[in-house]
Amino acid sequence: MRQKIVAGNWKMNNDKEETKTLIEGLKKEIENLPLDNTRVIVAPSFVNLESAVNQSEDSNIEVVAQNMHQTKNGAYTGEVSADMLKSIGIKSVIIGHSERRSIFNENDEILAEKVDAALANGLEVIFCFGEKLEERKTDNHLLEVGSQLKNSILHIAAEDWKNVVLAYEPVWAIGTGETASPEQAQEMHAFIRNVVAKNFTQEIADNVSILYGGSVKPTNAEEIFSKPDVDGGLIGGASLKATDFSAIIKAI
Ligand code: 13P
Repeated sequence: MRQKIVAGNWKMNNDKEETKTLIEGLKKEIENLPLDNTRVIVAPSFVNLESAVNQSEDSNIEVVAQNMHQTKNGAYTGEVSADMLKSIGIKSVIIGHSERRSIFNENDEILAEKVDAALANGLEVIFCFGEKLEERKTDNHLLEVGSQLKNSILHIAAEDWKNVVLAYEPVWAIGTGETASPEQAQEMHAFIRNVVAKNFTQEIADNVSILYGGSVKPTNAEEIFSKPDVDGGLIGGASLKATDFSAIIKAI
C-alpha cells in the first residue's frame, strides 16, 4: 500500500553526540503523534548508523543509509556494502542523490548497479533523481527525469517495486531555498507515476510512494504535501533541527 513518508537526509552533518541529541529530540517531538500509515525516516552518516539504529529501536523512527557500494565486498577503500549495512540492522538505503551524481560522479549505469545490488540483498531503495536548472528552463525536465528513471530503475522486476520509494529532487531546489511550486511538483509526480504505470501496471504505480525533496520547510511543507501525487518529502537542511523536522512531519 502507498505510504506517506517524511525522510531526513542528514548528509555530512552531525558527529556522534549531535546525532544522538537530534534523535532524542525528534523522538520527544513525535512520540505522541498519530502516525497511521506514515513513516518517519532519518539518514545519518555511516559512522553514526549503528548507534542511531540502537537508539531508535523503541520508537517510530526508521534509520536508513545515505549510500552503499554496488559490489559485495573487496578492494574498494572507503566504501560500504549492503551486507555491512544489513549486519547493523539497516533495511533501506538512499541511492542516486544528486550530490552523489554530481560530486562523486555516480552515473546512471553505476546507479542501476547499486539499485540491483540493494534489491538483491533485500534492502529497500529510496531512489533519487531530478533535473538541473538548465533542463527546467529549456522545458526538458520531464524528458530528463524520464531518462534517469529509464536508465537506472525501470529495468527492475515488477515484484521489486514493493521495495522502492521514489524521490523527485530537482537539483535547482536542493539547498537553494528555492522550492518547486506545488503545481510543478504535482505535474512531475503525476508524470513519474504515469511512467511507472506504462512500464509496469497501474496498480504498481498507485502503490509506489513518490517523495518531493528540495528546500522543504515547515512553512511550505503542507502546501506541497497537499498535492495528490506527493506522498511525502526528503528533507535536507530542515531535518537537522528536531522542531523543524517534526513540524514538517505534522504537515503530512
Ligand atoms: P534541502 O532540503 O536542504 O534542500 O535538501 C534536500 C535534499 O537534498 C534531501 O535529500
